[in-house]
Parts: sequence; structure tokens; C-alpha cells
Amino acid sequence: MAGLIDQIEPLKQTALAELKAAPDPAALEQTKGAWLGANGKFTALMKQLGMLSKAEKPAAGKLINAAKVELEAALAERRSELELKAALPKEPTDFTLPGRRRALGKLHPLTQVTEDIVRAFRKLGFAVADGPEIEDEYHCFDALNTPADHPARDTQDTFYLASGSEDNSPSPGGEGRGEGGRKSLLLRTHTSSVQIRVMKSQPPPVRIIVPGRVYRRDNADATHNPTFQQIEGLYVDKGVTVGDLKGTVEFVFKELLGRDVKIRFRPHYFSYTEPSFEIDFSNALVKKLGKDWLEIAGCGMVHPQVFENVGYDPEVWTGWAFGFGIERIAMIRYGINDIRLFYENDVRFLKQF
Ligand code: DAH
Repeated sequence: MAGLIDQIEPLKQTALAELKAAPDPAALEQTKGAWLGANGKFTALMKQLGMLSKAEKPAAGKLINAAKVELEAALAERRSELELKAALPKEPTDFTLPGRRRALGKLHPLTQVTEDIVRAFRKLGFAVADGPEIEDEYHCFDALNTPADHPARDTQDTFYLASGSEDNSPSPGGEGRGEGGRKSLLLRTHTSSVQIRVMKSQPPPVRIIVPGRVYRRDNADATHNPTFQQIEGLYVDKGVTVGDLKGTVEFVFKELLGRDVKIRFRPHYFSYTEPSFEIDFSNALVKKLGKDWLEIAGCGMVHPQVFENVGYDPEVWTGWAFGFGIERIAMIRYGINDIRLFYENDVRFLKQF
């Protein structure tokens, strides 16, 4: 049956041409079926092998198998060609088009002011310390000589979180007087709590500043926001005086707000310092606001009871502390009249700094 052998080559050529011409994956699968499927034309040819004589069979079988291998290779090749084609973009790409520019961001004005303050204190050898925003009553108030019934607590109402345990047994990790069991958690009202954490974790001397976010239960208006930022300072050593405090504050404010800055201390009350002062400052910016002085910070000499609470000997160690609001300084520096602008994240506002 010489006819069968002669049919192989032309059939193969037609099949190869059809496979290569298939325009898409679906058409390719169809072509495959038409030739190599159960009822395909090439399969039919293989079925006829059995009708050949014993002498013809091996040669014909070899030819058919070789052709089949070739068809399958062509099929696989066309398949990957079509896959590649599908992955390419439909429209030609114009590589000469300008790219999409991403606007360059900036640091938030509060971050800029904070960094400037930190830089000024670094010049004097202060290190930056950190503490938790979710605090307990002990670190935020009690250890700072402000017990639960102290009137100063009224001015620093805050947001209380579900308290841990209210029992009065000393907690296993409790480190000192008054701490046992007082586990009422709150959002810290000031960065002063970090004074306690730092002094409890290291022996004197101490020279730190603490920038950080604080919270109060205040209604927002032009000068109040329930969230704001403070910088705390703490200096503990032997023979520290109010003069050191005043010189330090003056140096930093001159760095921040200009050489013409003047500083004034007014007596005040804070439970964790004695004596205590409020700091006023004056310069051309203040005069522009039609004022002579602006209140800017609280400060004082660390109260001996606070030293007792952290285990420092108040007969040996002396120190001062201060705290001020960062927004206030940023508002003066940039002439901003509403504190809420810092927290609205309106890029039209933020872009200006
Ligand atoms: N913690 C005070 C406040 O939030 C500010 C302050 C006053 C901090 C006196 C101090 C200090 O360290 O000695 O209003």
C-alpha cells in the first residue's frame, strides 16, 4: 500500500501550515483537534497502518511518528507565540512621551520645628528620649507629685482607656512607691511622664529632651486641639541652678526665633517643680501681634519629692525641667492663626512651608 506512505508528507505540510497560521489560541486548539484529535486527519492515517503489509509497516510507522513529533513541536511553538502576543500592549507604546511626575513631598511644619528644636538642644549635649503615648496614671500624675485629688488634674483631663486591674495589690513589676496596682490607662496629657520613665531607668546625671504627642480632653478651637505636641526637657546633676535653666532656654529660643529674643520668668505653680515659673518671650514677631510678651513654656527646679519617687537622693542631686508646646512656636514662627490647620492635612496649607 504505497499510497499511504506517499500521503504522509503532503498531509504533514498542510497541517504545519494550518498550525502556523492559527490567529489565536482558540483557533489553534481547533486546528490541533482537526489533525491530532481522536477523529483528526493525521490520527486517521495512523489507524490505517494496520492495513499495511509486514514489510511496509516499520518504514511507514517511523515516518508517521516523525511527522507527529514535528506537528507537536509546531503546535507548542505557535502556542507560545500566541501567548507572547497576548501579553503585549494592544496599542503601540510611544516611548518619547514624558513620564508621570510624582510631586516631591515635604516635612510637615511641626516636624520641621521639632527637628530645629532638637538640633538646638543637641548643641548643648541633650539626648532625645521617648516614652509611650498610652500612659498609666502613675507616670503621668502620681509620680509627678500630682495625686488623684490634686486640683491640677482638672486642667489636664484626658481620654481614659479601659483600665487594666483596679486591685490594690502591688503589681509584680511595680517599681516603687505608689505604683502598685494603679493601672488606669490614659492618653498622656504631657511629656512630663517621660521624666519619670527616664530617671527610673538610669542613674543621674540626666540631660534629655522628649519631643512627643500629647492629648487633652479639650474642644478644638483656634488655640486648642485634643492632640498636640510638646517638648519636655530634664537636666539633673550636682549644683544645678535656675541660672542654668534660664541660660539654656534663652539659647534655644534665640536659635529658634531669632537673635532679638528676650526671655522673662514669672512665678507659677507646678506640682513637680519648686520653685516653678512660666516663661514669656518677646521679639519682633511678638510685637507684630501687638503684644509685649507671649507665654511659651512652664518650667522649674525638680521637686525633691519627684527625686524621692524615682530613687534619686534629693540631698545630692539637683535639676530643672521644662515643657512647651511645639504648635505654639510654629504658629509664631510662621504667622499661623489657627492650630487646627496643622491637623487638617490640606496640601494647600502644607505646601507653604
Ligand atoms: N507639663 C506641663 C504642661 O503640660 C509643662 C511643664 C511645666 C513641664 C513645668 C515641666 C515643668 O517639665 O517643669 O503644661
